[in-house]
Amino acid sequence: MKKFVMALSAVAIATLASNAAFAAGDAAAGEKIAKTKCAACHTFETGGANKVGPNLFGVTTRGTGKAANFAYSPLYTAAAAKMASWDAASLDAYLTDPTKTLTEKAGEAKGASKMTFKLPSADDRANVIAYLETLK
Ligand code: HEC
Repeated sequence: MKKFVMALSAVAIATLASNAAFAAGDAAAGEKIAKTKCAACHTFETGGANKVGPNLFGVTTRGTGKAANFAYSPLYTAAAAKMASWDAASLDAYLTDPTKTLTEKAGEAKGASKMTFKLPSADDRANVIAYLETLK
């Protein structure tokens, strides 16, 4: 019985460890995705310019709606009023479908995110989120 319990906990620990690795993503791989798929609209360095989208330095720590001099969409602003900051789960939802996620967070059906781009691969999202988390 003792052996069985120990074997079970080993499995549990291994499962936890692999989930943590997945949730953390690979920041180096994420940086490549950011440079190829997001850089047309976003800069990532501290004090970087806004382009079509806001500068993303510190996006996971600065709170929502905080890029200086960027005109966020009305839907984004309504969502940000109810969501003080981004976390891995909300970013994952946002990168999957920006308008749907902001609509749900804002609790209103009108408007659209100014971000029309979607990142369908869950692995790409986990990696790019891990990269965004290093920008602080
Ligand atoms: C075609 C242009 C475009 C592309 C490509 C794009 N974005 Fe955006 N992004 C925007 C715009 C515009 C906004 C502002 C959304 C709004 O106001 O509704 C935005 C907002 C964001 C925000 C919220 C910023 C904040 O200050 O809260 C994050 C995070 C984000 N984008 C991440 C990404 C990532 C990561 C990628 C690449 C995988 C990406 N975006 C690709 C245009 C783009």
